[in-house]
Amino acid sequence: MVATWHRSTWACWMCMFINGLVAGATSAPIIIDTDMNVDDMAALVYLVRSGADIKGITVSATGFSGQWAGVDSALRLLHKLNRSDIPVAFQEGYLGSTRLNLDYPSGMPPSEWTEANNRYLEQWIGLEPSQKPAAWQSAPQLICQILQSADLQSVFILELGPYTNLAAALHRSDCAALFRSKVQGLYVQGGRLHGDDAQKIQQSGALRGSGPGSGFPWTTEKKPNKASWNVFLDAVSAAQVWTFGLATVVLSDNAFEHLQVDPSDPGMYTPRNCTNKLLADVMLNWAPAHNAEWSGLSYWDQATAVVMMQQLLTKESACQRWVESNITISLQNDATYATYHEGSLGAPSEACLATSRVALLNDFYSAGCA
Ligand SMILES: *[C@@H]1O[C@H](CO)[C@@H](O)[C@H](O)[C@H]1NC(C)=O
Ligand SMILES: *[C@@H]1O[C@H](CO)[C@@H](O)[C@H](O)[C@H]1NC(C)=O
Ligand SMILES: *[C@@H]1O[C@H](CO)[C@@H](O)[C@H](O)[C@H]1NC(C)=O
Repeated sequence: MVATWHRSTWACWMCMFINGLVAGATSAPIIIDTDMNVDDMAALVYLVRSGADIKGITVSATGFSGQWAGVDSALRLLHKLNRSDIPVAFQEGYLGSTRLNLDYPSGMPPSEWTEANNRYLEQWIGLEPSQKPAAWQSAPQLICQILQSADLQSVFILELGPYTNLAAALHRSDCAALFRSKVQGLYVQGGRLHGDDAQKIQQSGALRGSGPGSGFPWTTEKKPNKASWNVFLDAVSAAQVWTFGLATVVLSDNAFEHLQVDPSDPGMYTPRNCTNKLLADVMLNWAPAHNAEWSGLSYWDQATAVVMMQQLLTKESACQRWVESNITISLQNDATYATYHEGSLGAPSEACLATSRVALLNDFYSAGCA
């Protein structure tokens, strides 16, 4: 057993090495679950250009794009990137939103918050609709099928939106066993850690984005201010996924401290001899399309995608500070609702608490340029 493990591990290191040198690196298989906000769109462009082996994309209808628009946006981007072979699935049924705590009503964001995302690629980037239809499978069905045909402990899941689709897949007959045997790790965006260590980091920089006027026309008045949107939007699904206990890497809110978007970034970080127009366009229209201030926009999903790819391709990480923790979601009917709880239960996690802006943006804007 041990000898075989060593040999296959060695073979895999060799193939990664050779791929990296000759044909552009290819990652382990990845499933992306997303709500197709603009940061998700940019992350997707980055992932395709940097050689992610994307087996499927599932789109939730409980996050920051309308049900009709999120899948269409993913298909448009894939068409533009010549990757229409990747299946894109709708959320199963509709309205998987949590109604547990009526003091903090969750459910979908109001449509005036999602409108700009819904038409972004069409109106601001000028992308054609794709001829390729959405997958015939529902999101959970597609996830389970991908796991079914994957190698043991091989798949990584990237969660960029609410956890509705992942929880729905876990609940399918026999699929939890597939998660245990096939999934190697889960990467998730966002959520604040509140331990001593995390607190110190947090206090070293100003807190942002927590009120009207700070950028997006979003408010935290209707959610506990420590909750992450991706958790809050469907807290029960999030709680179920975290309790299940996949090995999880979380880019915590602390890690986005110095990651506001500046419109000069694409020009500054894209290599001179590289054409990365689609990525630059998606980034540069973000604030104007949403009538938002640049200072309110950060590299949320983009940074999560970059840190994941750096780990999967065994490159140096732009994350500078990690902390290990076991994490569950609080569903207490008080101000801790939909926040992370650190203890001895839940998902064994590595949380990134601080990132290098320069290292991150260099990698992000040079995707596919080598
Ligand atoms: C698009 O991808 C296909 C394979 O999926 C390839 O044969 C074709 O050359 C690609 N086209 C462009 C313009 O890159
Ligand atoms: C762009 O320039 C860099 C540094 O000079 C070089 O390493 C790279 O191969 C070039 N890429 C292309 C596509 O010409
Ligand atoms: C996480 O939980 C496991 C199992 O209970 C325990 O062995 C480990 O020490 C915990 N890690 C942390 C950082 O609390």
